[in-house]
Amino acid sequence: MDAKKRAAELREKLTDASYRYYVLDDPSMSDAQYDRLFRELQELEKVHPELASPDSPTQKIGAPPRDAFRTVRHTVPMLSLENAMEDSEFTEWYQRAVEAAGGKAPEFVVEPKMDGTAVEVVYRDGLLVSGSTRGDGEVGEDITDNLKTIRALPLRLKGKAPERLEVRGEVYFPVKDFEKMNEELAARGEKTFANPRNTAAGTLRQLDPKLTAARPLRIVIHGLGEVKGIRFAAHEESMKRLAEMGLPTCAKHLARGTTEEEIRAIHRKWLTGRDKLAFEVDGVVVKVDDFRLREEMGFRTRSPRWAIAWKFPPREEVTQIVDMTVSVGRTGALTPVAELKPVALGGVTVSRATLNNPGLVVKKGVKIGDWVTVRRAGDVIPEVVGAVTSRRTGKERDFEMPKKCPVCGTAVSWPEGEAIPRCPNISCPAQVKGTLFHFTHALGMDGFGEKIVEQLVEKGMVKDAADLYHLEIKPLAELDRMGEKSAKNLLDALEQSKDTTLEKFIGALGIRLVGESTARDLANHFGDVALLMDTTVDQLEDVPEVGARVAAEIRSYFSAPANRRLVQRLLEAGLHWPKPKRTEGGKFQGKKFVFTGEMTTMSRREAEQKVAELGGKAASSVSKATDFVVAGPNAGSKLDKAKQLGLKVLSEKEFVELLRS
Ligand code: IVH
Repeated sequence: MDAKKRAAELREKLTDASYRYYVLDDPSMSDAQYDRLFRELQELEKVHPELASPDSPTQKIGAPPRDAFRTVRHTVPMLSLENAMEDSEFTEWYQRAVEAAGGKAPEFVVEPKMDGTAVEVVYRDGLLVSGSTRGDGEVGEDITDNLKTIRALPLRLKGKAPERLEVRGEVYFPVKDFEKMNEELAARGEKTFANPRNTAAGTLRQLDPKLTAARPLRIVIHGLGEVKGIRFAAHEESMKRLAEMGLPTCAKHLARGTTEEEIRAIHRKWLTGRDKLAFEVDGVVVKVDDFRLREEMGFRTRSPRWAIAWKFPPREEVTQIVDMTVSVGRTGALTPVAELKPVALGGVTVSRATLNNPGLVVKKGVKIGDWVTVRRAGDVIPEVVGAVTSRRTGKERDFEMPKKCPVCGTAVSWPEGEAIPRCPNISCPAQVKGTLFHFTHALGMDGFGEKIVEQLVEKGMVKDAADLYHLEIKPLAELDRMGEKSAKNLLDALEQSKDTTLEKFIGALGIRLVGESTARDLANHFGDVALLMDTTVDQLEDVPEVGARVAAEIRSYFSAPANRRLVQRLLEAGLHWPKPKRTEGGKFQGKKFVFTGEMTTMSRREAEQKVAELGGKAASSVSKATDFVVAGPNAGSKLDKAKQLGLKVLSEKEFVELLRS
């Protein structure tokens, strides 16, 4: 095939792959495959410079650096939105909107309000020709070269292109990538970034586009500027059409509603789901769908009457640290706790926040008496982000970690290089209480509140989880806030808890770094607690999702005679679970599977469980001992290795057929 044809074919393949990945959420090739084709195209363009074209995916690696950004005037000003902070403010806006629409509630569209940085992108005859920041709304900075590096943003639109299309959207830094980047920076001792929004804005304003290209920025289009050569009648329709042209739009996040109650329900849904998203969301934007009606409703000075940003309760506030105390967790970890002047945060009143570890107290430079920023992310315990140093008076005091455990007085152990000090005394009442509380809750005994566990430990009635099963009704009923009835309920709950599952049992032990999902993996893999107790670190690392640190913690837990005795006594007390549904001599007996890439008909965990049920084993890494590698879209290095070793590679479909055969 000649070079010109091949280049055209490669461009089409790569552009289509990005479209499928970013717009359709339906990847068609792995990262490795994409890279391979990309490099081939790069080579071709190098050897045949005449083949270079402005819409080639290779343009996404970044143009040469600049000295400064030019400014551009937006054809249509980029306005802001009016904010509703309280429910009542939304109600007021809603009523006004209905009135402006002539008294009948119009159709609204509701979208997440992405907490990114606003940009405009201009396509002329389908070709991306310019991109800018919002700036002051009238004039922004020309960041065309940087925007072009965003993989999700097509350099040429698909299909018949309008003469001019100005689109507006939000550029964001995916939360996971942001956290990963910060972890890596911290590990190298470098300065970390404050939040994904500032990082996205900063990345877009790099003078060297190659730096922008190296970061995983994403974009979502949520509006239009000037448009020539195409007409849209409404917002949702326009977003769907733009998606067909290859643009990543908010069409897939959009919901419709007419009544206030419908819109309220959508707001609630986004609020509760905000932590599961790839981007940060600080509210929803409610917009009138119909463009003609929008025109009739018109604008205020800086914002349209047809839309509003209905914000979520803030998750960051400033308050004062009145004192610092130290709490001891179930693993003995000593954590500084900031006692705060109470403050409303994300819908609840917060009066304590953790400082995660003492190193952070020093790093964040937080003192007693400081005004600090506190943050709450979802269900997570509130944390102190940092001190507002401009509010210092000089009366603030430094905080020092105690040398002795504040609960049992044992000298604290703080090995070099460890982030946190620990109380080494496993009989420390704080650890015993924490472990018991965890145990009872992991086995579904919610009646064991903190106050009860505290009394059981303090009165010496219970020293470990196995002791719980020897409690008698009388002394139990005599505890504070108890009585015959509550005591009986607790004993019933204990009795019921004996009928459990292996994964719950493993999780309830409270092994460090072993959460619910790891416990499930261990249960699936070993199917038996005796086996788990005697495995080597190597065998543990063979479990998918179990890494070296987790394996070491598990090993260390079961090396302690006290812990082995505890397991034994729990079994003697009657804890039991169904034997795994594993068929001895099942059709996968002795076969090792490794899963890589995405699966569509079942989760990877389900697949691994099926393998286990049929007598096989799922492993995390590919080796000569692997029998089957099941590879889906976006499979990574494991697939490459499997091919190198000449192993049998199955698609998901073939795997499912094998299960059924
Ligand atoms: S529509 C007239 N939709 O929020 C302005 N904006 O506070 C129409 N934003 O500048 C904007 N998500 O950058 C719209 N789904 C969304 C949005 C959104 C985030 C940003 C946008 C705007 C700012 C206003």
